[in-house]
Amino acid sequence: MIPNGGTEINQAVQTLRDGGLVAFPTETVYGLGADASNPEAIKKIFTAKGRPSNHPLIVHIATPDHDDVGQADWTAQLAHWARDISEDALKLINAFWPGPLTLVFKKDKRVLTELTGGQDTVAIRAPAHPLAQGLLRQFKGGVVAPSANRFGKVSPTSAADVRSEFEGMSDLMVLDGGDCKVGIESTIIDLSSGDHAVLLRPGMITPSDILTRTGIQVRLPGELAMSTVANNLPKVSGSLRAHYAPATPLRLYQSGRVLDALCEFPDTKSRVAVGVWESESPIGEDGHPSVHFEEIPLPSDSTAFASLLYRSLRDLDQQDWDLILFPEPPAGEEWDGVRDRLQRASFGSGPSSNNHASN
Ligand code: TXA
Ligand code: MG
Repeated sequence: MIPNGGTEINQAVQTLRDGGLVAFPTETVYGLGADASNPEAIKKIFTAKGRPSNHPLIVHIATPDHDDVGQADWTAQLAHWARDISEDALKLINAFWPGPLTLVFKKDKRVLTELTGGQDTVAIRAPAHPLAQGLLRQFKGGVVAPSANRFGKVSPTSAADVRSEFEGMSDLMVLDGGDCKVGIESTIIDLSSGDHAVLLRPGMITPSDILTRTGIQVRLPGELAMSTVANNLPKVSGSLRAHYAPATPLRLYQSGRVLDALCEFPDTKSRVAVGVWESESPIGEDGHPSVHFEEIPLPSDSTAFASLLYRSLRDLDQQDWDLILFPEPPAGEEWDGVRDRLQRASFGSGPSSNNHASN
């Protein structure tokens, strides 16, 4: 499927073994990978991203390398990293791995504190992208990989995006697996309390998907007593209110209020890129304020929207806009991942921005 994939994977594996960084595709976004057992390599990730060292990383693991993978195979695969692997964990794994779901467990004592930000838990996921799987299988170890962007910026969904994020690192090895299909980061579920499955980061696998396929009722952090989930550590760096942000200010407008949002710009020199649901009629020329604006059609389906969200924010960032104006996503759990990213990306960008943080 991928030309020279074999040779490239060999080189990538060698780079990881030598303590270097390798950017690679996953089905969600590109990751910036390092050997999870090498503290020096892990430090390089934090330096390259400009990420505070107390923000934990996800360990990526391979799917067992044979057909008919069962619970015992997964348990063996996890044994090096996680303790107290519950029945619920195995149900989630059987239903969703490999795929865009990250699970947080109590960590095994062998797991380096450098990668957990000093916490006693570890986040693990088995990505579905074939190139990621090829890399992980051949490497035979865990690969820590945050999204391959500078801290706080938009996550990359193509190899070219990764290269532009790390322009200064001309020797960074980037495996090119094309555009990421899911387009936003994995759903994160915390199983470490042993009692509840708690949603830490919404993604395209929703609590309803989980309930339907496993019978497990996922809790939101707000539903539980503060003492069980709250501590002062930044469990999920994406939970900082401002995150995933393009350089151009992004604001959200309420459905049907696009003209009001445009009217907030008395400056006729402003150039505004306006995202508009493709199912809705164009804004048209009449009755709008004198700012220069262009309509960007957006898919009204949450899966299609997620898959192009970061792509379009990056593309718009390359153009000469003073502002990006996007519609608030509709209500409904299938939009929670997208809504979360848009709210964080727009945080602090002025009157129409939505300042609610969801976790
Ligand atoms: O889709 C994804 O998850 C992508 C691809 C590359 O796999 N990775 C990703 O990594 O989004 P990153 O580092 O950008 O975000 C991982 C999130 C962080 O917000 C981090 O705080 C959280 O996972 N995390 C990692 N370990 C954790 C832990 N032990 N407990 C709670 N949250 C954790
Ligand atoms: Mg990230």
